[in-house]
Amino acid sequence: MAEERAVPTGSSPSQPSAAAASLSEPLLVVDGLAKEFPTPEGSLAALERIAFAVREGEFVSIIGPSGCGKSTLFNIIGGLIDRFQGRVTIAGTPISGPHAAIGMVFQEESTFPWRTVVENVAFPLEIQGMPKQKRLARARHFIALVGLEGFEHRYPFELSGGMRQRVAIARTLAFEPKILLMDEPFGALDEQTRLLLGDKVLQIQQELKQTTLLITHSIAEAVQLSDRIVVMTYRPGRVKRIVDVGLPRPRTLDLVGSDAFGRYVAEIWNDLREETSRGMREAEARVRGMLHRP
Ligand SMILES: Nc1ncnc2c1ncn2[C@@H]1O[C@H](COP(=O)(O)OP(=O)(O)O)[C@@H](O)[C@H]1O
Ligand SMILES: [Mg+2]
Repeated sequence: MAEERAVPTGSSPSQPSAAAASLSEPLLVVDGLAKEFPTPEGSLAALERIAFAVREGEFVSIIGPSGCGKSTLFNIIGGLIDRFQGRVTIAGTPISGPHAAIGMVFQEESTFPWRTVVENVAFPLEIQGMPKQKRLARARHFIALVGLEGFEHRYPFELSGGMRQRVAIARTLAFEPKILLMDEPFGALDEQTRLLLGDKVLQIQQELKQTTLLITHSIAEAVQLSDRIVVMTYRPGRVKRIVDVGLPRPRTLDLVGSDAFGRYVAEIWNDLREETSRGMREAEARVRGMLHRP
């Protein structure tokens, strides 16, 4: 299986993105990244030889079987994990700890229940020391952008899960990070809400030209949203393949139903199926081992 490493360009030299990459330095570079976790059974290799680069304004999805190290990768890029091998640079500067250039959105609920929507979104700006009028105006702007106009003074418990997740996205965007990392932000939502929210994220990304990395387990979501998709292997997580999604934008619902779209989904599913089956076989072997232990 072709494995790509050190990939500032696309997988095919004929793609226009390859030419674009040679013109501009990538914003985010991950190079030779490896991470091991100590466990009672010895050290666990979570990530190995991870290398890819993301250009400014690009939308890149990360897809891979559960447990392959996707969240670990984001936590390293976000500066939340500090002991790892390899290098992560943003605009050429190696990261060391949490970084104002990075904004993160997580799967789990992260709104503050005791704050209204506008107070939630303005919170990081308050921490930054932005004057009240300015931060409220900024918060309102991003609340409108995620489609929550009119809900500024509601509390999270008055909103649906999808709306709360939009509050979390608005709060991260309001901070104006150079790079947005979203770790399965729609994972807990139903399929319809996911689709609509995916659409919203896409609109926002096109509007702000926000450099975005998204972890998702939905292949269709990855194809719908991304310029490129990084497919990871089962443990230890490596880059199995990087797929250039050559579909035109805007990615309308018509396009989502097209043969070309279906071909991308099938191609990625093929890769992913291999890795997921491997993961399942290993998990089964572990369970068997435990059952047969005296
Ligand atoms: N702090 C930790 N200590 C030990 N093992 C960890 C820790 N964090 C993650 N792992 C292990 O590393 C692997 C990758 O985890 P994770 O990055 O959460 O995967 P994913 O997000 O792809 O599901 C898993 O086997 C997980 O159990
Ligand atoms: Mg995860």
